[in-house]
Amino acid sequence: MNDILSTKAINALLAWYQAYKRDLPWRHTRDPYHIWLSEIMLQQTRVEAVKPYYARFLEVCPTVGALAELPEERLFKLWEGLGYYSRARNLQKAARTVMEVYDGKMPRTYEELRRLSGIGDYTAGAIASIAFGIRVPAVDGNVLRVLSRVSGSRSDIAEQSTKDAYRQALLPLIPPAAGDFNQSLIELGATVCVPNGDPKCDLCPLAAECVAARDGLTDEIPVRSAKKPRKIQPLTVLIIQDGNRTALRKRPDKGLLAGLYELPNVQGHLDEDQVLTHIRALGFEPLRIKRLDDAKHIFTHIEWQMIAYAVQITPEFDGYHGASDTLIVQNDDLHSNYAIPSAFSAYVKYL
Ligand code: ADE
Repeated sequence: MNDILSTKAINALLAWYQAYKRDLPWRHTRDPYHIWLSEIMLQQTRVEAVKPYYARFLEVCPTVGALAELPEERLFKLWEGLGYYSRARNLQKAARTVMEVYDGKMPRTYEELRRLSGIGDYTAGAIASIAFGIRVPAVDGNVLRVLSRVSGSRSDIAEQSTKDAYRQALLPLIPPAAGDFNQSLIELGATVCVPNGDPKCDLCPLAAECVAARDGLTDEIPVRSAKKPRKIQPLTVLIIQDGNRTALRKRPDKGLLAGLYELPNVQGHLDEDQVLTHIRALGFEPLRIKRLDDAKHIFTHIEWQMIAYAVQITPEFDGYHGASDTLIVQNDDLHSNYAIPSAFSAYVKYL
């Protein structure tokens, strides 16, 4: 079988990267902790969105040790708005392993990195190559798209076997500048060989040997099997307030948005009477109720279809004696110390 990229193509790609790479904060460092953090944040998140989070995170947690010791609420507050909070939880779990097992220094092999929480094949390859110059591939969605188009392959990029095949195909071709090589493929996918619509083949260093460009197949390749349809969940969200305090609920430690604080909510779409009954069951005395706008939020596998009510309750300054997972928090304390998942962003303006 021919190599998936010729030596000439690899050299063209590296030269293109040197000339056109974006100037990104994590490209000014080889600190493995910084590279690791950037790669975790960049999963499912746009570069422009990541930049301010990356800077703020490193101010608060300049070292792996600081991350390992950060209280969970502060960790989630730093992550608020980025979504996929399990990334933050895994990051901290791995930081604790680095402290306990590796004396605070990031391990320097692909295999050891791969065993840390939240680090898969791609992320281990990215850290190993960018921070340590190890010649291993880092195949993310960008790279899968580039390689599928260059080779004209219709293998399903959602399949693990396809990812493994591209990793195997790249392995013997990786040049000494392994980090630059991997990032050049990622960068090409992110800025030139873009999904949905027209890739900028006239700007592409690989166009001369790209099968999809030659045969006009860039809108058919890559092939990705249809994902399972998302499960629709109707939800009633409650903004329960007494003056300038708002009720929050801590989610269970497992599952969607595990351990995060949220606006209290009930499965299904409740009418006003059902909401008032529910509010009393929580140990609150409702004074006024008002229907708010509907909203929806799309998670990877679930879609929330939300209706919402603002419910004013009587203040109880000796403390409420209701459900144990529900608490009532001053609004300014809420804004500075609690991370409310973006799923509720349509309702944050009422807090
Ligand atoms: N996406 C994933 N990793 C990246 C990186 N290192 N630079 C830019 N975009 C990325």
